[in-house]
Amino acid sequence: MFQAVLFDLDGVITDTAEYHFLAWEKLAKKIGIEIDREFNENLKGVSREESLRRILEHGGKANDYTPEEFAAMAKLKNDNYVEMIQAVSPKDVYPGILQLLQDLRGQGIKIALASASKNGPFLLKQMQITEYFDAIADPAKVVASKPAPDIFIAAAEGVGVDVSQAIGIEDAYSGIAAIKAANVLPIGVGKAEVLGSDIALVSDTSQLTLDFLIEVWDNQ
Ligand code: G6P
Ligand code: MG
Repeated sequence: MFQAVLFDLDGVITDTAEYHFLAWEKLAKKIGIEIDREFNENLKGVSREESLRRILEHGGKANDYTPEEFAAMAKLKNDNYVEMIQAVSPKDVYPGILQLLQDLRGQGIKIALASASKNGPFLLKQMQITEYFDAIADPAKVVASKPAPDIFIAAAEGVGVDVSQAIGIEDAYSGIAAIKAANVLPIGVGKAEVLGSDIALVSDTSQLTLDFLIEVWDNQ
């Protein structure tokens, strides 16, 4: 039996992946770059700075800004995003997630957050689920962001569980790659076309039951 579950946040615990997209779309539009949902798949799970780098490259503006202007744009996106998430509340926790957290806790299985977002702790607080998390990996202390394994390794270490005894849950391509690189067992939330057909997948979080996790673990 697995001993820990390492959760991504945006797009797994709640719908903030959509808010990230809307905030990036607004910033991009301001500087004359169009981004769509297909391109956004390349931003999911990726750090704030790397996301902005990818957007500028996408718009052919990779060399147009000074480091100060770059930092100001990243801040503007975050200010906008932070404004959007002020209204996040317990009712925004995705279907099935609260029950899963309760069931994991009931079984003594450790729970950790492995999100690249510096807004993670605030969001857990807004949704009133902080108490379920035995550890929150700090993205500011992690050297390489997803698809590197670092944040999942840090999350497993945070709860004192070996990576080989953990399940990781992700909605992003880069996140699944990070879970695999960390030698953690992945479960994807989303489509095989995006996440790959070689891993366990659910189309929505209501399918993320303790029984389903056990089944995936036993069949690996
Ligand atoms: C997560 C999200 C990304 C976001 C990143 C950094 O990985 O999936 O869309 O860019 O966190 O989030 P932050 O809130 O720190 O800008
Ligand atoms: Mg995500």
